[in-house]
Amino acid sequence: MSHLSERPEKPVVGVSMPHESAVQHVTGAALYTDDLVQRTKDVLHAYPVQVMKARGRVTALRTGAALAVPGVVRVLTGADVPGVNDAGMKHDEPLFPDEVMFHGHAVAWVLGETLEAARIGAAAVEVDLEELPSVITLQDAIAADSYHGARPVMTHGDVDAGFADSAHVFTGEFQFSGQEHFYLETHAALAQVDENGQVFIQSSTQHPSETQEIVSHVLGVPAHEVTVQCLRMGGGFGGKEMQPHGFAAIAALGAKLTGRPVRFRLNRTQDLTMSGKRHGFHATWKIGFDTEGRIQALDATLTADGGWSLDLSEPVLARALCHIDNTYWIPNARVAGRIARTNTVSNTAFRGFGGPQGMLVIEDILGRCAPRLGVDAKELRERNFYRPGQGQTTPYGQPVTQPERIAAVWQQVQDNGHIADREREIAAFNAAHPHTKRALAVTGVKFGISFNLTAFNQGGALVLIYKDGSVLINHGGTEMGQGLHTKMLQVAATTLGIPLHKVRLAPTRTDKVPNTSATAASSGADLNGGAVKNACEQLRERLLRVAASQLGTNASDVRIVEGVARSLGGDQELAWDDLVRTAYFQRVQLSAAGYYRTEGLHWDAKSFRGSPFKYFAIGAAATEVEVDGFTGAYCIRRVDIVHDVGDSLSPLIDIGQVEGGFVQGAGWLTLEDLRWDTGDGPNRGRLLTQAASTYKLPSFSEMPEEFNVTLLENATEEGAVFGSKAVGEPPLMLAFSVREALRQAAAAFGPRGTAVELASPATPEAVYWAIESARQGGTAGDGRTHGAAASEAVAVRTGVEALSGA
Ligand code: MTE
Ligand code: MOS
Repeated sequence: MSHLSERPEKPVVGVSMPHESAVQHVTGAALYTDDLVQRTKDVLHAYPVQVMKARGRVTALRTGAALAVPGVVRVLTGADVPGVNDAGMKHDEPLFPDEVMFHGHAVAWVLGETLEAARIGAAAVEVDLEELPSVITLQDAIAADSYHGARPVMTHGDVDAGFADSAHVFTGEFQFSGQEHFYLETHAALAQVDENGQVFIQSSTQHPSETQEIVSHVLGVPAHEVTVQCLRMGGGFGGKEMQPHGFAAIAALGAKLTGRPVRFRLNRTQDLTMSGKRHGFHATWKIGFDTEGRIQALDATLTADGGWSLDLSEPVLARALCHIDNTYWIPNARVAGRIARTNTVSNTAFRGFGGPQGMLVIEDILGRCAPRLGVDAKELRERNFYRPGQGQTTPYGQPVTQPERIAAVWQQVQDNGHIADREREIAAFNAAHPHTKRALAVTGVKFGISFNLTAFNQGGALVLIYKDGSVLINHGGTEMGQGLHTKMLQVAATTLGIPLHKVRLAPTRTDKVPNTSATAASSGADLNGGAVKNACEQLRERLLRVAASQLGTNASDVRIVEGVARSLGGDQELAWDDLVRTAYFQRVQLSAAGYYRTEGLHWDAKSFRGSPFKYFAIGAAATEVEVDGFTGAYCIRRVDIVHDVGDSLSPLIDIGQVEGGFVQGAGWLTLEDLRWDTGDGPNRGRLLTQAASTYKLPSFSEMPEEFNVTLLENATEEGAVFGSKAVGEPPLMLAFSVREALRQAAAAFGPRGTAVELASPATPEAVYWAIESARQGGTAGDGRTHGAAASEAVAVRTGVEALSGA
């Protein structure tokens, strides 16, 4: 069998092609879970009974009035659960809760002949509530000591010695917002029970195997009685990694109890008020630099807003801690993490999975400290990069492989973007414009690829070749728009040596490939690609032997290229279809199960040390912004990105992921502002941003005026499928460059060398306050605080001199 990263002659991987469903997407022909309802008979509609209080004990639940509503068939309550009344992996998430834990928590579900009947029925369910005190904000949770889950501490080197050796020490605090996934397709499922009581669920889920597991727990049946299928998702972004399970269980329970198909699809407001979001974080930090601005020590505490249940908060927090170094060598570190328990939705995975939050903390620190150190921010970042040949490890002990790529993308993005010239132009522009300022920032990304939990790093596939030569592949990954299926088709065609049109892909189902991991952590192509390749290699080996006997040579001398088998040096040919038919008549098995596991990983969650990642994805972005001094309004003038995807499996798909990830990151950092009612009135705990009208998403008007994405060339990743690297999440974090450019533009309204703090999201309003603070001299030196991002400068030894630029 060939080496995993090696490419054969004329590979189909590496060829730019549209998404396999692109035509269906744009013509509306692509089917999503809820589209299947129209093709299903006798469907019942499920509607949640949401309680609009932040917290309270349910003392009575009366369903009589609901059942009297014409068309209402049944009301599902906790008493109906034959198995375990829990929807989470941590057993802290009752499916039908006795205690309402957040504003909008569903305590029962109504099944109706029509959606309208179910809706009216849900409104008629009477719930008596004994209200209880609630914690809404992260600050209140910290003040009340309200936490849940693990409290990891990551230590590296000698922090006290590091601070003792530091010429400058600064401390600060930073709180930043979470993010709503706003996938176009809201949560949906359709459950059916067959004549044997077997449950079949179509679900919009990134993790069909776990949906299956939770449904089987709730129903109290073994896993082989439950099958979950996912055709495709209209976006997941992490929001469908764990959150679909409980919803799917409701549909399954309804189907089991009524014998009829049950569907639900949350409307947008239900989805926004019931499902978890990216974790907002609070951070306190202390950092020490030497006289050159090199980081000597970091002591930080990160608090994630977990919401009411744990969900994925622990692994999200772990990834945040594992990414606080980003591209920087931190010789001495102590970083503690904790998860606040608040009475809000249960926060969950979101593109980057905590990585962005950890990295934002260090980028914010460097952006704030650069002026205080009297060093240009870009220069400060560069001075702190991991360097080759020094044996540097991350704070959790993993050697940093390919540190030279950090420098490579950093240099290339500056060359591509003509940064030096443009910095001069910007300086001239700013000198001539008192009320408008421009700035350009460059930031980098280093993102660990693999699940922190080693066991999840496995994938499976089932590849079938039919007698006519056509090929059908099944694999464990789900398609959410990221192009995984396109890549898998390319991997199969490449491995078998046949044209792409010979290969079709079957919907993701738990009865084809069992025990799959979530399609998450950007590892979908690595894990499932490894498995598809493995299955295809087994088949190819068998077919090569058949071909060799036909061509009168050895199997090792046969190549199958573009659907034709030839012996090396020989002139005889055997077409793929004939080869397959011959193999069938020779009774050679034409199906194979493939398997892949990532080698060389280890992780100890207790000591918080190990090498959890197979490799690091690397990238750099340069962003120029223009800011209006009267309003704080801004635009993104130009973005240049150089991103490392190894040798791309599918360049068009990868460029789309880089662009989309960047824009989604820019939305998180600049526009998207989640707000809750934090007052003590009757609506306490209510999500105020319940629709696109109040929650600002990036749209065409916020796109960079010029947007150049380049994939790093000749970047073969040894030991990864066809030399490629994961791409799904890392580009999101390239958007730090937008935030840092906004900070620098705001600072440009003050005297040279002004340090400013910037709230996150950096909305025009937040930028306006940063400008105001810059006009008053910023935060340099005197420890004044502005807005939510309070900070205090502690100048040690030569620290005071370093502030002279202000
Ligand atoms: N791209 C699109 N279009 N839609 C999505 O929902 N999810 C992202 C990323 N890109 C997403 C996306 C997230 S959170 C992850 S983890 C990866 O895709 C998952 O897919 P992969 O592992 O195949 O890259
Ligand atoms: Mo992505 S947040 O790992 O689903």
